[in-house]
Amino acid sequence: MSGMEIKMQTKSQNTADQFNFDQFQFGVKATDHILVARYREGEWQSAAIQPFEHLSISPLAMCLHYGQTVFEGLKAYKQVNGELSIFRLDRHYERMNESLQRMAMPNVPEELFKDGIIKLVELEKEWISDREGYSLYIRPFMIATEERLGVSISKEYLFMVVCTPMAAYYAKPLKVKVERQYTRAAKGGVGAAKNGGNYGAAYYPANLAQQEGFDQVIWTDAETHNYVEESGTMNLMFIVDGVLLTPPTGETILSGVTRDSLIQIAKDFGWQVEVRPISLDEIKQAFDIGKKVEAFGVGTAAVVAPFELIQLDKVNYQPYVGDDAQMYQLKQKLTAIRSGAEEDTYGWSFKPITNCYSDAGKMS
Ligand SMILES: Cc1ncc(COP(=O)(O)O)c(C=O)c1O
Repeated sequence: MSGMEIKMQTKSQNTADQFNFDQFQFGVKATDHILVARYREGEWQSAAIQPFEHLSISPLAMCLHYGQTVFEGLKAYKQVNGELSIFRLDRHYERMNESLQRMAMPNVPEELFKDGIIKLVELEKEWISDREGYSLYIRPFMIATEERLGVSISKEYLFMVVCTPMAAYYAKPLKVKVERQYTRAAKGGVGAAKNGGNYGAAYYPANLAQQEGFDQVIWTDAETHNYVEESGTMNLMFIVDGVLLTPPTGETILSGVTRDSLIQIAKDFGWQVEVRPISLDEIKQAFDIGKKVEAFGVGTAAVVAPFELIQLDKVNYQPYVGDDAQMYQLKQKLTAIRSGAEEDTYGWSFKPITNCYSDAGKMS
């Protein structure tokens, strides 16, 4: 959509000052504005940042029936020096389009995704509390809107971006169960895409595990159920006797931005990092012969979510979660980079104002 303008219809007053930042549930309150862009007849027709309001779509809209939906999740921070930053905007943009391609949906143009998010975040910066660890969660998403009860690729789409305030996230150690019956993703399927159906399909097994007292499941591969893949909606890592292990992303494992960032940090710490298939036999054996095992999920929300218990074929194993666990060094470093407390030598923190604006709110 080169040259296509994002129209700005802003509210005269931001309502962030009326929001209770001391007590709220994540994801329930949207900020004041939404970006909405329409695609039809093979091109992006219009884009606007406008006051947040409910959508009106036809009950025949294809997304309601056949699941052509894709989303992303990223965060903006108020850095310790007061600058705004958006974490790894480029990578989230690429991944959005990777997901869209798999779902036979049109790509979002770079300008629309990036400039749209930058303008929206700039407009909603009052929603990032000064409290330590708070941020703004950004949710770009796209849905098929053609009105037709026919199983075919939609010709019309809405791309939208909403934001919601986010508090500091304390990840209490989790109890997880290795899932060997149900499958999250199979080779050739859509597991690597952030498509809504993947999440809906995971609720039932996750709920069964919760009824048994677990917080989450560890997903295993569809063919043998003997190789670990992800945990809940996080990528999975182990540190076994100081070596960081994580399965490779690909058709069945989402290419997590946090995972990628932590791998780079671990390598720069000088740690040994092995990205390779990890079997349950290997994990079992590590526990059985008394190796020190840390196990944790990694993702945008928690950064690192430690596991204090892993149940595997009815046997409980206890990974190490002591204060000196190595995983906390990874978490500390990434958190410090995201907040600007430590220098970002990776170029991950995108600074809208310094990079793109001549003065606040105006594209240079
Ligand atoms: C299935 C799944 N795996 C892993 C992740 C972690 O990815 P990221 O680090 O990009 O948040 C997410 C969260 O987006 C996810 O939904």
